[in-house]
Order: sequence, then structure tokens, then C-alpha cells
Amino acid sequence: MVSKSLVSLGVLAFLFFMPLTALTLLAAEDPLANQLVVEKQQFAPGSFEDPGACIACHFDIYEQWSKSMHAYAWENKWYQDDYQLAHRETDGATDVFCAACHAPIAARTGQLPPHDGSQFDATSKRGISCDFCHTVTGIERTYNMGHVSEPGPMKYANRGDGESPYHGVVYSKKHTDGVFCGSCHNVKHPVTDVAVIDTYDDWLSGPYAEQGITCQNCHMTPTPGIGSNPGKSSPIGLERDNVAFHAFVGGSVMAQRNMGNEHQAQLAEEMLKAAAKLSLESMVVDNQLALTVHVDNVGAGHKIPTGVTYIRKMWLEVQLVDDQGDIVYSSGLVDEKNHVDPDAVFYRLLFKDRDGNLTGKSWLAVDIGYDRRIPAQGRDTEVYSIELPATGSYRADVRLMYRSLAQETLDFHDGAESEKIESIEMATASVTIERS
Ligand code: HEC
Ligand code: HEC
Ligand code: HEC
Ligand code: HEC
Ligand code: HEC
Repeated sequence: MVSKSLVSLGVLAFLFFMPLTALTLLAAEDPLANQLVVEKQQFAPGSFEDPGACIACHFDIYEQWSKSMHAYAWENKWYQDDYQLAHRETDGATDVFCAACHAPIAARTGQLPPHDGSQFDATSKRGISCDFCHTVTGIERTYNMGHVSEPGPMKYANRGDGESPYHGVVYSKKHTDGVFCGSCHNVKHPVTDVAVIDTYDDWLSGPYAEQGITCQNCHMTPTPGIGSNPGKSSPIGLERDNVAFHAFVGGSVMAQRNMGNEHQAQLAEEMLKAAAKLSLESMVVDNQLALTVHVDNVGAGHKIPTGVTYIRKMWLEVQLVDDQGDIVYSSGLVDEKNHVDPDAVFYRLLFKDRDGNLTGKSWLAVDIGYDRRIPAQGRDTEVYSIELPATGSYRADVRLMYRSLAQETLDFHDGAESEKIESIEMATASVTIERS
């Protein structure tokens, strides 16, 4: 391994807000001069094997992985839009920082910069692939990509007792634990320390980690909940009770549908529906209805939503209709521009920028500005006060909704051409109300 120690991380972090000063302090010809973070582990191009080299013996796993968001981590449009915007707004300071997780092989084989991926080889373009994960030998820190790579013939995972004619196998406890995921599924702003993504820390301090239920138990099995997948990981391998499933299903229904992966989109929809339950209580005093909506996180090992919730949306849609079917009250409906009612109850995270404004741009985060999410096995409660115009019976319909991206964000990037963001129903409940 050739270690290319470029510049101290601390100094660069300090220079984040002054990228031009950074340029004057560092050798001008150094292409990484204005980088916020540099990748210290460097290997020769081609050191990591292409996923194509694994197909012949691990066909099923290849099929699952090739339709996972990990495979699209670099090429997917929504990532590219955000990444290119970050690049423009920070003078390129975020290039290697973002790519370290979204294109780890490129970052570790000297193919960045330039930030646009024009120097990537075919393997680097395939995001987070087999040989990146299976040549990890250590975890240096549990945030901002702390994986230690040792690319080569030894493949590290959860067994170590099989035999492969192509490579060596090594048992690695880390691969069976949340910590392996945590080093990427925990993002800290490198200058302000704001927890941009906290899925790992959140899981670690919650009820599932305590019971020994890992990310792998829920996300590397074929169904929501703790499923199992008996069989062989290779036709020439041993029979196993549970072969690690590699589709890494999350909430990305729409991105998967856009990629043409209808089956994976359905799995994602099931995952979202498994996460939450709604329950309602109502009380009428004179003409005033108090409608209480409880949202329970019954299926996720972390808060819902989790991850990049600052670009996603989860919200409550409430409609009250009278016995004629006329709408008496609504909240959280989608308008003709496909924008969600801004007064809805939103479950997500937003940052505060230096001027104190709320923002979904992670690179501007100096603090958390808004945070309403529902903890694992926890509950959120909202009470709606609604005036009932006349005596009679009414029905309240409540839905918990999810979008992978705000329509406004896509409108910003694509203008009039932007496609319609899909809304996914995670849970629903109704109650009948009488005003006498
Ligand atoms: C010539 C066939 C062959 C090829 C090609 C191959 N493997 Fe394997 N691999 C196997 C067999 C057989 C096993 C053992 C499976 C068992 O018995 O459970 C295995 C096991 C593994 C394991 C499990 C390690 C553990 O915990 O024991 C990993 C990880 C792995 N392979 C990764 C890869 C990757 C990554 C590639 C492509 C770069 C690849 N393999 C290519 C045949 C192959
Ligand atoms: C994001 C990281 C990641 C990627 C990408 C990835 N794997 Fe894995 N893989 C894992 C982890 C983690 C485990 C162990 C899961 C567990 O403990 O349940 C695993 C387990 C395995 C196993 C052992 C399965 C078993 O249960 O016996 C094989 C074989 C394997 N992977 C091959 C591959 C191949 C081939 C690819 C690419 C097509 C791939 N992996 C892509 C993380 C990854
Ligand atoms: C090298 C960094 C890295 C590692 C290691 C990693 N992930 Fe990921 N993961 C990502 C990135 C980046 C994405 C987002 C890709 C995209 O949508 O552009 C992602 C996406 C996902 C998604 C899909 C989310 C969705 O919205 O559909 C799931 C689920 C997931 N990862 C689970 C895991 C689990 C479980 C592990 C550990 C076994 C793991 N990841 C290991 C970086 C990583
Ligand atoms: C008890 C099962 C369970 C465990 C444990 C679990 N998850 Fe999840 N996860 C879910 C469910 C259900 C969803 C769908 C709800 C959602 O998207 O918020 C989900 C969603 C996700 C998403 C997609 C979020 C989004 O909407 O963009 C990611 C990423 C993810 N999990 C990563 C992880 C990681 C990393 C770990 C471990 C640190 C983990 N999960 C542990 C069940 C689990
Ligand atoms: C430490 C690892 C890490 C770093 C650094 C990182 N990300 Fe991510 N990114 C992730 C993970 C993990 C996910 C998946 C979370 C989820 O699905 O909710 C993700 C998801 C995303 C998504 C959502 C993609 C989709 O398919 O919907 C966007 C956009 C994104 N990241 C942009 C960025 C930008 C821009 C940067 C740099 C400023 C960056 N990321 C830096 C780990 C990282």
C-alpha cells in the first residue's frame, strides 16, 4: 500500500470556509489543494476487482447487489445533482469528501479529482461494489468513511469456513455488525461536526442494538423484519441456513422504479409499510373536534425517517369529510404543482446555515435547525383541533406519507422538465366522529 500523506486534515478542515486562502497556502499545482478531506489510503488503479469478476460463482448475490442503491451510489441522478451543487457552492472543497462514500474505489485509486468522474474506470463507476466491502480489514472510526482497505486475494465476510477456488476467505466479525455499515451510515460535517446522517449512532443507542439485532438482520435478509434466506452463496459452496441477501432494501421506491427495477421498488415499498403504524383518538366538545394522531415506529431499527431526511419528506395527510362527502378540513395534501402543503406535520431533519436560515444543503450546516423524527419503538403524537360546522357524522382519514425527494428540489434542478415525485403511503387509519 502506498500511503500518500498529502496535508493535515485539521488544517484543511479549518480552511473550509476560506477555500481561496487554502489555495494560496498550498502548492498551487497540487490538484487536491482546496479539498476539505483527502483520501489517505491510495492504491494503484485496478487494485479492486470489478464486480463482473464475481458473477460466475455468486450470481444471485450479484443480481441482488446490482439493483441495490449501493450499486448506484455514484451514478444516480439525485446524488449527482446534490454533489455537483455542493461542488459549485464550495469551490470543489466537498468533492473527495462526498465521493469517499459514494465512489470509494475511485477515491482510493486516485481517480478523483477531477470531480466529474471523467477519470473513473468501469469499476469505479459502479459505486459501492463487492470488492470494496469484502477487502475491508478494519474500521478506524464510525463516521465519515473509516474503513481500512486491503485489496487482494483474501475476501472478508461472515463465514471463513468455505472454500473458493478463486480467492481466500477470512472470517471478519466486523462484517456481521452494525459498525461495518456505521462508518458510512454516519456522516459528520467535517468542520462544524453537525450530525448530517446519524443512522448508526441512533441504532447503537436504541433498543435493537441492545437486543443484538443488527442492520444486517433487517437489511441483508429478503423481507422486512428479521427474515432468513436459506441456500448457497455459490453453487459450488456449502449449504447455509441464511445466506446474506444483498439488495440492501431501504425506502428508495421511486429511484428503483426509475431504474426499471420494479421488483426492488416493491420491496422498498414493503419496507416503508413495515416501519410505521397509525392510530387515532377523537373527542368532541360542543363544535370542537380534537383529533389525536399517534405514529408508532414499529419496524425500523432507527428513527423514521433516517438517512438523508433533509432531502426526503415524511408527513401526515389528514382529511375530514362530512356525511355528504364534502371536505371540512385538510392538512398535508399535494397541490396541482405536486408540492406538499407546507403547513403539514413533517418528520425530517433540516439544518441551520450561518445566517440562521433552515436549509437542506448538508455542506452549509452549522447546526440542526429542525428535527422531528420518530425513534425506534417510539411514538409521535399530534393533536389537530378542528371546528365541526354542523351536527352529524364525519369521517377522518389519516395517512403517513413518504417521498424520497422534495418536488421543489427536483424543480430547482430540472425546471419545467422535472418529473413528478411519487408519494408512498406508509400507513393509514380512519375514524368516525359524531357531533350531536
Ligand atoms: C470460482 C468461483 C468464485 C469466484 C469467481 C468468486 N468467488 Fe467468492 N466464493 C466462492 C465460494 C465457493 C465461496 C464459499 C461459499 C460457501 O461455502 O459458503 C466463496 C465465498 C466468498 C465470500 C464469503 C467469505 C466468508 O465469509 O467466508 C465472499 C465475501 C466472497 N466469496 C467474495 C467474492 C468476491 C468479492 C468475488 C469477486 C471479486 C468472488 N467472491 C468471486 C467462489 C467464488
Ligand atoms: C456494502 C457492502 C457490501 C457489498 C457492496 C457487497 N457485500 Fe457481500 N457481504 C457484506 C456483508 C456485511 C456480509 C455479511 C452479512 C452478514 O453477516 O449477515 C456479506 C456477505 C457476503 C457473502 C457471504 C454470504 C453468506 O451468508 O454466506 C458473500 C459470498 C458475499 N457477501 C459476496 C458478495 C458479492 C459477490 C458482492 C457483489 C456482487 C457483494 N458481496 C457485495 C457486505 C457487502
Ligand atoms: C462505503 C460506504 C457504505 C457502506 C460500507 C454501507 N453503505 Fe449503505 N449506502 C451507502 C450510500 C452512499 C448509500 C446511498 C446510495 C444512493 O442512494 O446514492 C447507501 C444506501 C443504503 C441503503 C438504501 C437506502 C434507500 O434509501 O433505499 C440501505 C438499506 C443501506 N445502504 C444499508 C446498508 C447496510 C445494512 C450496510 C452494512 C451491511 C451498509 N449499507 C454499508 C454507503 C454505504
Ligand atoms: C429492526 C429492523 C431494522 C434495523 C435493525 C435497521 N433498519 Fe434500517 N430500516 C428499517 C426499515 C423498516 C426501514 C424503512 C423505513 C424508512 O425508510 O425510514 C429502514 C430504512 C433504512 C434506510 C433508508 C432510509 C431512507 O428512507 O432513506 C437506511 C439507509 C437504513 N435503514 C440503514 C440502516 C442501518 C445502517 C442500520 C444499522 C445501523 C439499520 N438500518 C438498522 C429496518 C431496520
Ligand atoms: C460518510 C459517508 C457519506 C458521505 C461523506 C456522504 N454521503 Fe451521501 N449518503 C450516504 C449514505 C449512507 C446515504 C444513504 C442514506 C439514505 O438513503 O437515506 C447517502 C445518500 C445521499 C443522497 C441520496 C441519494 C438518493 O438515492 O436518494 C444524496 C443526494 C447524497 N447522499 C449526497 C451527498 C453529498 C452531496 C455529499 C457531500 C457533501 C455526501 N452525500 C457525502 C453516505 C455519505
